[in-house]
Amino acid sequence: MRLPLTSPLFPCISSTFSNVTLFGASIIELGAAQLTNASLAYQYYPTFSGLNFCNVSVTYTHPGQNDSLHVQVWLPSTTYTERMQGIGGGSYAAGLNDVSFGGMALAVSEGYAAVSLDAGLSSQDPDVDLQPQDWALLGPGNVDLYALQNLASVSLSDATLLAKAFVKNYYGQPPKFSYWNGCSQGGRQGLMLAQQYPDLYDGILAGSPAISWNKWAVGDYYPAFIMDQLKQYPYPCELEAIRTAAVNACDGLDGVVDGIITDPEACHFDPRTVVGGPVNCSDAAGPRRISDAAVKVVQAVWGGARDAHNESLWFGLNKDAVITGSSGLAETACTNGTCSRSPPPLCNTWLQYFLAKDPSVDLATMTQTYYDDLFRISVQQYTSIYGTDDPDLRPFRDSGGKMITYHGLADVLIPPNNTRHYYDAATAVDRSVQDYYRLFFSPGLGHCDGGLGGRPASALDALQTWVENGTAPDVLIGTSDPDSRGNVIERPLCLYPKKTGL
Ligand SMILES: *[C@@H]1O[C@H](CO)[C@@H](O)[C@H](O)[C@H]1NC(C)=O
Ligand SMILES: *[C@@H]1O[C@H](CO)[C@@H](O)[C@H](O)[C@H]1NC(C)=O
Ligand SMILES: *[C@@H]1O[C@H](CO)[C@@H](O)[C@H](O)[C@H]1NC(C)=O
Ligand SMILES: *[C@@H]1O[C@H](CO)[C@@H](O)[C@H](O)[C@H]1NC(C)=O
Ligand SMILES: *[C@@H]1O[C@H](CO)[C@@H](O)[C@H](O)[C@H]1NC(C)=O
Ligand SMILES: *[C@@H]1O[C@H](CO)[C@@H](O)[C@H](O)[C@H]1NC(C)=O
Ligand SMILES: *[C@@H]1O[C@H](CO)[C@@H](O)[C@H](O)[C@H]1NC(C)=O
Ligand SMILES: *[C@@H]1O[C@H](CO)[C@@H](O)[C@H](O)[C@H]1NC(C)=O
Ligand SMILES: *[C@@H]1O[C@H](CO)[C@@H](O)[C@H](O)[C@H]1NC(C)=O
Repeated sequence: MRLPLTSPLFPCISSTFSNVTLFGASIIELGAAQLTNASLAYQYYPTFSGLNFCNVSVTYTHPGQNDSLHVQVWLPSTTYTERMQGIGGGSYAAGLNDVSFGGMALAVSEGYAAVSLDAGLSSQDPDVDLQPQDWALLGPGNVDLYALQNLASVSLSDATLLAKAFVKNYYGQPPKFSYWNGCSQGGRQGLMLAQQYPDLYDGILAGSPAISWNKWAVGDYYPAFIMDQLKQYPYPCELEAIRTAAVNACDGLDGVVDGIITDPEACHFDPRTVVGGPVNCSDAAGPRRISDAAVKVVQAVWGGARDAHNESLWFGLNKDAVITGSSGLAETACTNGTCSRSPPPLCNTWLQYFLAKDPSVDLATMTQTYYDDLFRISVQQYTSIYGTDDPDLRPFRDSGGKMITYHGLADVLIPPNNTRHYYDAATAVDRSVQDYYRLFFSPGLGHCDGGLGGRPASALDALQTWVENGTAPDVLIGTSDPDSRGNVIERPLCLYPKKTGL
């Protein structure tokens, strides 16, 4: 919906913003710089041109915690519609990385004031976005819990309060509507905001949320652990052949052959039926047969982590999720006929830095007992700080918030059941949860994007209509990436617990 454009009342100079204070924090440095007719280019986004905005940047600390956090707020000078948008991060990054800057530029071009934050975890090393080794440990055995808490929650409230104050100082009014927009880590941030700071945002879009991080990150390590137990590291082609066989068996159950398993629960494909089957392997330099070990590894991915008593610890991925290749749950690398495992970096670092608290720990020799211990430690020590799984969303409801989550059923990293489990728990607390929180699964969609399924590109618009007009979305439209012939498929994503496409 259109809102009238609002012009700034005050100039884009630091003194416009310098009276802003934040409880619990001390501002170290504040700058404001006008950008006029700016062209900005970031990875994953088209180039934005003609942008006019005031770039307010802040460095602050929580006295006593010896931290140093950064926030940027981009205030449109010519296109402001009295809306604000908080842009989420990804992986271990809270924001202020290329993906978030692209999101900020898009938001500014659409008339939002935009805010992003680094939770104090930025570094000169671009890889640190992905890996916490620069900040996780104060020393061997000692996790920097303040840093983790900044990432988990505190920085989200800080940045939002700062941004709202800057908006007020620049335009004379606080934002009329505030939105959070994130996927993965950004989705987790959205849910943390709804759970812990329920009155900060009117609308939250929390895609493929990395909630229950302390559980899935250990659970996702399980296939690598099983390979170590078996002392066998199957070729990617064998693992992919099993996945393909599952897709071939279950794809057509919905009446359409499109490479997508629409209803994972209806897919009862048993991977043991393909043991010994032939497979052409470019990575193994020739034909092979599907090994028993490959089947066991795939069962570990699909069945999820189990403990020494064969009890389920956490959920698995669905059968059409890609499990090989970079960051795949069963990624292996093969040279000259010898393969080794390569667990997803996010899980590896979680186990090493946050659970073992020792980067030199040799996870490859871990026993089942030790694996079970790590899972227990993760639950005991991190649920309250980082689990982001409080199902009681009634305070968010009571402050008038609306929230949308989407999750790809072919997610390669975070099991869709992670989200389903949470949503069912929220429903158990409040049977009317759909009045303010709606969940949509997207068959075939990978983690936030990728895969053959559709990304709900207009989810933010749907959220805005819900917040500003009271019209709740009953479907979202998922739009696929173009295939090799440039064709794009659109399909409606149904409101959970309805099943899409059936
Ligand atoms: C800062 O100054 C502006 C302009 O005088 C005023 O509108 C605003 O309320 C002040 N903010 C604080 C936090 O004092
Ligand atoms: C804005 O920048 C573009 C190049 O990005 C340039 O072609 C155009 O003339 C500029 N417009 C103004 C009003 O300066
Ligand atoms: C905004 O300001 C910060 C701090 O000066 C700077 O690092 C950043 O590059 C600026 N962003 C843009 C888009 O100019
Ligand atoms: C605070 O952090 C700096 C580096 O960021 C370090 O040099 C200093 O020793 C720390 N101070 C305390 C009291 O831990
Ligand atoms: C392997 O490749 C050969 C030659 O292209 C083909 O005839 C055969 O069907 C393939 N086998 C499998 C299992 O895909
Ligand atoms: C463990 O439990 C699963 C699920 O019930 C079952 O399929 C599997 O056979 C069990 N494994 C063992 C070793 O008993
Ligand atoms: C997901 O949860 C449903 C319902 O509890 C269950 O039937 C299904 O087996 C689970 N799928 C996976 C992959 O864990
Ligand atoms: C793989 O084998 C080739 C030929 O035997 C050899 O030249 C190469 O060094 C080997 N590579 C590795 C990583 O062992
Ligand atoms: C806004 O709500 C009205 C009535 O509830 C409805 O008729 C209209 O289509 C809605 N507009 C949008 C943009 O959803």
